[in-house]
Amino acid sequence: MNERTDGPLVLGIETSCDETGVGIVRGTTLLADAVASSVAEHERFGGVVPEVASRAHLEAMVPTIRRACETAGIALGDVDAIAVTAGPGLAGALLVGVASAKALALSLDKPLYGVNHLAAHVAVDQLQHGPLPEPCLAMLVSGGHSSLLKVTDITTGVDPMGATIDDAAGEAFDKVARLLGLGFPGGPAIDRTALSGNSVAIDFPRGLSTRKDLERHRFDFSFSGLKTAVARWIEARERAGELVPVADVAASFQEAVADVLVRKALDAATSEGIDSIVLGGGVAANSRLRAMLEERAARAGVHVRVPRPGLCTDNGAMVAALGAEMVARGRRPSALDIPADSSQPVTHVLW
Ligand code: KG4
Ligand code: ZN
Repeated sequence: MNERTDGPLVLGIETSCDETGVGIVRGTTLLADAVASSVAEHERFGGVVPEVASRAHLEAMVPTIRRACETAGIALGDVDAIAVTAGPGLAGALLVGVASAKALALSLDKPLYGVNHLAAHVAVDQLQHGPLPEPCLAMLVSGGHSSLLKVTDITTGVDPMGATIDDAAGEAFDKVARLLGLGFPGGPAIDRTALSGNSVAIDFPRGLSTRKDLERHRFDFSFSGLKTAVARWIEARERAGELVPVADVAASFQEAVADVLVRKALDAATSEGIDSIVLGGGVAANSRLRAMLEERAARAGVHVRVPRPGLCTDNGAMVAALGAEMVARGRRPSALDIPADSSQPVTHVLW
């Protein structure tokens, strides 16, 4: 740990999906990270229902802000700035956070920073491992995104190198877990189940990895073919009246996802001469992905930084961390009429 204990006091709000997060940081020091999740309300639908998430954000916002301030031992009036996820994400869900942040900024007369959710996933690593190495290669893998980003300046210079062309990595975990009758969210269930399975039992396809694919999609991902391959494999066993070896399917599927992610991340980093990879997003909690990345990166001489699981999933601390960096680097605050931008590109780090 080498975090600074000085720096701006920033409150960050995150509502892009199903987590209402309110974080408070001072510089790169985490003071509070309050999260209320509506994940249980979406369980029976097997995925996040936008209207349900928006309503849950509305209900959770004020109590979560209060809880964060109590934990940090600060009054709202003490903060130097308010940061909020402006996008990308679910439109209605984002709107609740953006409206709340504007109300706070206006009533407290503090600057507002409307920031990019993906860049915040990268910035959060500062709270655990100190100042980000720049340049670095960030791999963000969650239910909503799977991207490889080249980060030269986390407040202005985030360049997409590759992304998924269909399902996100977390979405593939959730869909395959559903096929296997494991619960939602599927990632943690597959991770647990795979522990007792054989990861080389079934040779599932590695998306966008043939020589021809690599010509056009060297750093892009595709997981929908893998999901279909798993579905077909299970159907064939069921048609033959055989038992489905759930743990082996989970382990072999997980191996296929991790293999492609790690290979492409290392290829992207080394092709740019970058020697640090930051992993983020909910799927970064996956035990096989973490182990495989660390092992292969060490062999390639690449340093890996992975925040603890609570900082990898959506939270307010990541937004506060990026907001604090905006203040520390003297970036101009956002106007009070910024939109909630559901498809905000990653190159647009600050409104
Ligand atoms: O970042 P996150 O909390 O929310 C967004 O989607 O933005 O990520 C949630 C995703 C879900 O798809 C969940 O299944 C996946 O992260 N996930 C995991 C694990 N823990 C969460 N996937 C694989 N292994 C895990 N241990
Ligand atoms: Zn996220």
